[in-house]
Amino acid sequence: MAGKPALWITRRLSDATLARAARDYEVTINHEDRTWSGDEIVARSADFDAIMPCHSEIFDADVAARLSEHVKIIANHSVGVDHCDLPALKARGITVTNTPDVLSDATAELALLLMLGAARRAVEGDRLVREGRWDSWSPAFMVGKQVSGARLGIVGMGRVGQAMARNARGLGMELHYHNRTRLPEDREHGAIWHESLDSLLAVSDFLSLHCPATPETAGLMNAERLTRLPAGAVLVNTARGALVDEAALLEAIRSGHLAAAGLDCFAHEPGGNPAFAAHENIFMLPHIGSATRRTRDAMGARALDNLDAFFAGKRPRDQM
Ligand code: DGY
Repeated sequence: MAGKPALWITRRLSDATLARAARDYEVTINHEDRTWSGDEIVARSADFDAIMPCHSEIFDADVAARLSEHVKIIANHSVGVDHCDLPALKARGITVTNTPDVLSDATAELALLLMLGAARRAVEGDRLVREGRWDSWSPAFMVGKQVSGARLGIVGMGRVGQAMARNARGLGMELHYHNRTRLPEDREHGAIWHESLDSLLAVSDFLSLHCPATPETAGLMNAERLTRLPAGAVLVNTARGALVDEAALLEAIRSGHLAAAGLDCFAHEPGGNPAFAAHENIFMLPHIGSATRRTRDAMGARALDNLDAFFAGKRPRDQM
């Protein structure tokens, strides 16, 4: 390849990321920071050797089939790759990478915030004070669910799940997890392994989802599984909206079987689920699990490391 590889960065990444990319690549940056449709991605792809997208750009089978043969690598600026049809991209000979590890702490931090906020009625309390409606106090006022000493179930004890376990341990929670295989003891952080998800659900006063969205995990938390949680449980989701059947969640909140939920991910993004807005015991954030300055820089660096390796003829560290 003569000259620097042509790289399309589809969204406005951190300044440090853009500066390094501009130094080492012939870079095209989306300064407007808008999202791109599949047709637009296909139409522009002939100009680039590499694309660095976020989870907001969808590379489904149709896009993969129509991408220009110029594109050699998709170096995702995300750990999740559910927006990429991996077999279809592989069939086209396109390398795909992601950015694991570097966002685990930020995401687990947000899961903690959602868990605490949902349990202690943060949305309701903030609104009351903010809107000048806080006009009395009594011991029976805004009583929530105590987190310390409660049982936390973690679904998916990968990097984020383990970071969540470390956080929750600091709160004095009793930890349980479900993973296909049991982790070595030093990575369990004192959590008790459950071979089956159902067994985990039965003991989870709080349940936090940390597994990827795949065809196998789509709708994982459906009506039946939500019912298996103890009455008054709290569901936390910082992974992907596809893991939760939102109609079933709404019903579990309406019936009072779930005391609350904390959600950073939704089936439809951006936008979320308007039906959730009527319930102050659903604490919602707009998919910002990894949105800290430090983590954004680290995600950009990791994605660029993968690109550098690829164009140096080596296997990228995070090749899928
Ligand atoms: C990820 O990296 O998968 C986060 O959800 C942000 O894209």
